[in-house]
Amino acid sequence: MDGGLQIGTHAHGQGVKRQTAHIQGIKQGSNPHEYLCFCYKIRSRFGNTHQAAQAQPGQRALDIGCGPGLTTQSLAEAVGDTGQVLGVDIAAPMLTIARQRCASLPHVSFELCDVNALPCADASIDIALASQVYEYVEPIDAALRELARVIRPGGRAVLVDTDWESAVWASHDDVRMRRVLESWNEHIPHPQLPRTLKRRMEEAGFGSVTVTVVPLLNSVYDRQTYSVGMMDMIGAFVTGRNGLSAEDVAAWKADAVTIGAENGYFFSLSRYVFVGERA
Ligand SMILES: C[S@@+](CC[C@H](N)C(=O)[O-])C[C@H]1O[C@@H](n2cnc3c(N)ncnc32)[C@H](O)[C@@H]1O
Repeated sequence: MDGGLQIGTHAHGQGVKRQTAHIQGIKQGSNPHEYLCFCYKIRSRFGNTHQAAQAQPGQRALDIGCGPGLTTQSLAEAVGDTGQVLGVDIAAPMLTIARQRCASLPHVSFELCDVNALPCADASIDIALASQVYEYVEPIDAALRELARVIRPGGRAVLVDTDWESAVWASHDDVRMRRVLESWNEHIPHPQLPRTLKRRMEEAGFGSVTVTVVPLLNSVYDRQTYSVGMMDMIGAFVTGRNGLSAEDVAAWKADAVTIGAENGYFFSLSRYVFVGERA
């Protein structure tokens, strides 16, 4: 752990990497700054769902899969300099950006690790946040038990995940759109995690799990919106999958421009926020 924060240590150690190829491709690509812009789009379009964490001054907070540190910075502001925040991530480029972002915050530190081996002592955390992380994680139930291990009784976990089957995306070719979305489902091991996450959290040791939905809506074609901004990433991933050629993907992108020019652009997606209290 760097920066002097010592929330605790754990016998599993650190650096366990189970990163699968799709995560490597999407999240550890050669351009972390592009990914940072993508994170900003998520943040601005979905709203600050991390506020569900309601972190309090003086608390010990953990930002799991912190990425470029946007949520870590928010947690740091909430707990203040009498609190502590540890951000962890499996991707070193993300941590480099996160460290730069939080360089002026001495109560924040970062560590490279897998969520299945958190560098924290048992019951040492008041509040843990994981925004868009557990849908990437395997084995998921073991990871949730590891999360429960580090949170003190009465402490809380806030998990935010998307179900891409909630996507409604207007197209002149619905069959091609379905093929794109079905192929995109393959980019993570748990694309429909929200459907089972409440039960999984309860089985891992959390009680009183509440679920809320945060809808996203883009009703114009605009490169600054989340959905249009995602099209390059989705297009690159789905090309060559389920029979989708580069030409198919180019036509899919061109159709979005066309339907936008016709004032028919429409995209909606649901994100779900789970808050559980450690029993
Ligand atoms: C979609 S990003 C979310 C980043 C950040 N939580 C946010 O909301 O801005 C997912 C993050 O989870 C990290 N991640 C994925 N699998 C992980 C694992 N097994 N252990 C630790 N971090 C992981 C990725 O490296 C990436 O930074």
